[in-house]
Amino acid sequence: MTFTIRKLTEHIGAEIRDIALTSPIRRETFAQLRITLAEHAVLVFHDQQITDEQHVAFTEGLGEIEMTMRNDPIGDGGPVGVLTNLDENGELIPPDDPRMVYHQGNGLWHSDGSFKRVPLKGSLLAAKVVPPEGGGTEFASLCAAYANLSEEKKRRLDGLVAEHSLAHSRDQIAPNLMSNAFLEETPSQNQALVRTVPETGKKALLVGSYATHIIGLPLEEGKALLKELLDWSTQPQFVYRHKWRANDLVVYDNRCCLHRARPWDGHKYARVLHRTTLAGDGRTVA
Ligand SMILES: [Fe+2]
Repeated sequence: MTFTIRKLTEHIGAEIRDIALTSPIRRETFAQLRITLAEHAVLVFHDQQITDEQHVAFTEGLGEIEMTMRNDPIGDGGPVGVLTNLDENGELIPPDDPRMVYHQGNGLWHSDGSFKRVPLKGSLLAAKVVPPEGGGTEFASLCAAYANLSEEKKRRLDGLVAEHSLAHSRDQIAPNLMSNAFLEETPSQNQALVRTVPETGKKALLVGSYATHIIGLPLEEGKALLKELLDWSTQPQFVYRHKWRANDLVVYDNRCCLHRARPWDGHKYARVLHRTTLAGDGRTVA
């Protein structure tokens, strides 16, 4: 092993030490990192002052990079999305500005891109500017959540499919947050409620704020089941809370965890993260 792993909690998260992401990384090391990511769901690298080019190169070493969506407020169709509360002049954008209200959806537990036909496999967040207090990101293990269900519950979930929709998530924040073009770019999609992560053979729940209802179940019954599973998955024992330091790179496997951004005082503090994403291998339903 060409790097060191330090577990951060019992079920989720590991800090990766003794590796410099500013230097070329060998193919074998990337292969080890891919397995380590699937095992721990979240990898934290501290003190990595990387450029966007190095961020993209590291992403491509881990897998196939997925471009940002054309109508997504954080991207322009390129490889790097920018999560920021600074405008083009470097001034703070007030938290109640519509540009910021849209991002409040990131405060709901979600798996990046589960509203896509092929959900995103992973995401990489590089911290450029972080607030001195608040603004952390929490991650919840979907593998530990599944593993700790009763056998009866696991049987009940077997074969169930949920509908996922980006608009559903944003509607929980405020109406009309998405442009018509963005709505057209993101029609709702069906996803398996339970999937297997090939690298580890472990099963994971797929729930979160994009999940609307369960196909074939009465609407309210399906919504109640999704809420029950979300509450179950995000219990403290399944959660790692990340407090950002500038020059952190955090890589997370969207198949294995949910995440949410925590609030901070946007009237006082800037928070700037750059994000790349890894494409998924295929659909979760036939
Ligand atoms: Fe996210």
